[in-house]
Amino acid sequence: MDDKPRPTSRIAGFYERPLAERVAHVAALGDGALLSAESRAWLERGGGLPVETADRMSENVVATVGLPLGLALNLRINQRDYLVPMAVEEPSVVAAASNAARLVRLGGGFAGEADPPVMTAQIQLDDVVDAAGAPARVAAARAEILAAGDAAIPRMVARGGGCRDLDCRVLDPAAGVVVVEVHVDVGDAMGANLVDAVAEAAAPVVARATGGRVGLRILTNLPLRRRARVSCEVPADVIGADLADGIARASRFAELDVARAATHNKGIMNGIDAAAVALGQDWRALEAGAHAYAALGGYRPLATWQCTATGGLVGRLELPMAVGVVGGGTRTPAARAALELVAVSSAQELAMVLAAAGLASNLAALRALAGEGIQKGHMKLHRRRVDDDQSTEAPARAGVEP
Ligand code: MEV
Repeated sequence: MDDKPRPTSRIAGFYERPLAERVAHVAALGDGALLSAESRAWLERGGGLPVETADRMSENVVATVGLPLGLALNLRINQRDYLVPMAVEEPSVVAAASNAARLVRLGGGFAGEADPPVMTAQIQLDDVVDAAGAPARVAAARAEILAAGDAAIPRMVARGGGCRDLDCRVLDPAAGVVVVEVHVDVGDAMGANLVDAVAEAAAPVVARATGGRVGLRILTNLPLRRRARVSCEVPADVIGADLADGIARASRFAELDVARAATHNKGIMNGIDAAAVALGQDWRALEAGAHAYAALGGYRPLATWQCTATGGLVGRLELPMAVGVVGGGTRTPAARAALELVAVSSAQELAMVLAAAGLASNLAALRALAGEGIQKGHMKLHRRRVDDDQSTEAPARAGVEP
């Protein structure tokens, strides 16, 4: 990570300012140097995606759809501040994450880390004779398999990435179904295309080694070697002992009950998905990875909370996080502006920021649910939307200071 000075994520009263002032504030961040001229212009004209660009991105395009882009404030991770762009239609996601991040900040902020950006390619083999011996035969061909994979992604190899390791699992010994997995360092990319290229290039070598028939050659969206972890502590004088206890009990409820765990995890993904959409990430891949990870060994909450001995609260979240800062959806004007705002210097750093946005969203949800209930704050923001729909007057403010 670089040591570039970055703007504070604590912008008091941001939500109360008129939209034009918020835009002007953001455009001026870092003495006007945080955003490129293109991103500043994009922001000043209200964002959006030209339909001509959309036409090149997808098929049968007839229009584009819009989403509000907001900034989650107050996030501090490993003593660094981050403004987190979020694109989401649900009221209160941005305010809730900002509010919770403010509480966490009072306890020193989040601690976070992310694994190196290693994605995994799967090569399916059927009708392998002596399937039990396949792992040894694959191990013997290891260098050749990795070299075949690397040959398919020479530019990534030149940038320091490439195939790192492999393993082989026998899925059905009787039918000879085997999977060979190749683990690939994809650098700052999300890496799906790179990994798929490796899978296709390595498959003939793998088939020769195992003697089987090649089936699928594709990445797994459960990239277990690419996880992010964040934790935080909210002191008792910030959260209050009763609320801390209520949140810990809510966490336990999710550990005991799958139906609750699904909703608990949805609250985490509220923050992660909203940031992922804004930042041009493959949020479907993140969703698939998060829920598959939660289901390992029985579906469970991705984040848990416990009371500390001093009446505070400690929370932890770990999940796979396949994100990139180059390639894929990061090329749109919206994603470029969002990436400039979040100001990370690597995919690993971005993974950590998204995880922190998830833990903040979870804390906000549990705090509301264990306290006054979710409806009050939610409905205040919802009412504002209804008021806006029915009136041409200035919208009523939600009264939550994010
Ligand atoms: C709503 O979008 C998310 C929550 O249901 C999450 C939760 O219940 O923890 C409030």
